[in-house]
Amino acid sequence: MTNPITNHAPQSLTIRTPDDWHLHLRDGAMLHAVLPWTAAHFARAIIMPNLVPPVVTMAEATAYRARILAARPEGSVFQPLMTLYLTEETDPEDVARAHASGLIQAVKLYPAGATTNSASGVTDFARVQPVLDRMAEIGLPLCVHGEVTDGDIDIFDREAVFIDRILDPLRNRTPGLRVIMEHITTSTAADYVRSAPENLAATITTHHLVINRNHILAGGIRPHYYCLPVAKREEHRVALVQAATSGDARFFLGTDSAPHTDPAKLQPCGCAGCFTAPNTLPILAHVFEGAGALDRLEGFTSLHGPAYYRLPPNESHIILTRGTPDIPQHIHTEEGPVTVFDPGFALDWRVA
Ligand code: DOR
Ligand code: ZN
Repeated sequence: MTNPITNHAPQSLTIRTPDDWHLHLRDGAMLHAVLPWTAAHFARAIIMPNLVPPVVTMAEATAYRARILAARPEGSVFQPLMTLYLTEETDPEDVARAHASGLIQAVKLYPAGATTNSASGVTDFARVQPVLDRMAEIGLPLCVHGEVTDGDIDIFDREAVFIDRILDPLRNRTPGLRVIMEHITTSTAADYVRSAPENLAATITTHHLVINRNHILAGGIRPHYYCLPVAKREEHRVALVQAATSGDARFFLGTDSAPHTDPAKLQPCGCAGCFTAPNTLPILAHVFEGAGALDRLEGFTSLHGPAYYRLPPNESHIILTRGTPDIPQHIHTEEGPVTVFDPGFALDWRVA
């Protein structure tokens, strides 16, 4: 007897080639090892500037972009969309020049100390106001890591408190500024985005659609699920799936794929980050299908992001087909092995 569900389940899905609106590629040997995984499935990505030292100036972003282009696999047409790391010393005119030249698509705000390599981030927001004003004038978006860093704020509350104390006042001071709240992890953030005018959007990662805080902490500690912002309660994960699969164009994919070697993750003070570049699309297809929203996957991965960034969607397409993808558990890098994010369920879509 045939199973009527399997019988009617789609066996393939053609979508415009996706873009990743939040990606860590690192540099050197790590860049060479991880870039092919993104370039295999994505046409473009917003490249995070949190290198050591960070990518602060137009000159530094120009040089980093050249290193990324040189690391592309043979024949790849992958395009890195560069960002500058906002510091209290950032020169508004350097930012405006980098934007006018077409080099950068956004500026990245890290509150100082919020996450990996964020020490040069912002402490005194008054000192970056001239840059924010200039960005509002020229229409250059601000990508925001939305967490307060105060030691007295519980880590699970840091996103919600950031919205109240930092982001909402910042947006009120700079109403023309186009903002992307990155890697949102709470229903609070999703509701805040929905309540705001069109100049606020949010990215959602692959892993935050899959894990809640139990995956990190219940039945043993699992460092490979530790990232920032840290995954929250199940009700928040459900709210993120709802936002991502709703078709609302203010929500789009930013994987925050953030490779760290296993020794860097598996130690008394392990690094934050999930490496999802290799299996993001199979995982998303599974999540969207589970939500009965496979027809909305293309919007999330390939249409909403370009629309917000005022770029055309990709002309090319990819085909997802039913089947088990061939994805390793770890990738080899000259710095050591990097573990690929394990969604905890069998994948049944592959990129053809
Ligand atoms: O989990 C994370 N890893 N969150 C961030 O904000 C930074 C990133 C990284 O660079 O490793
Ligand atoms: Zn990130």
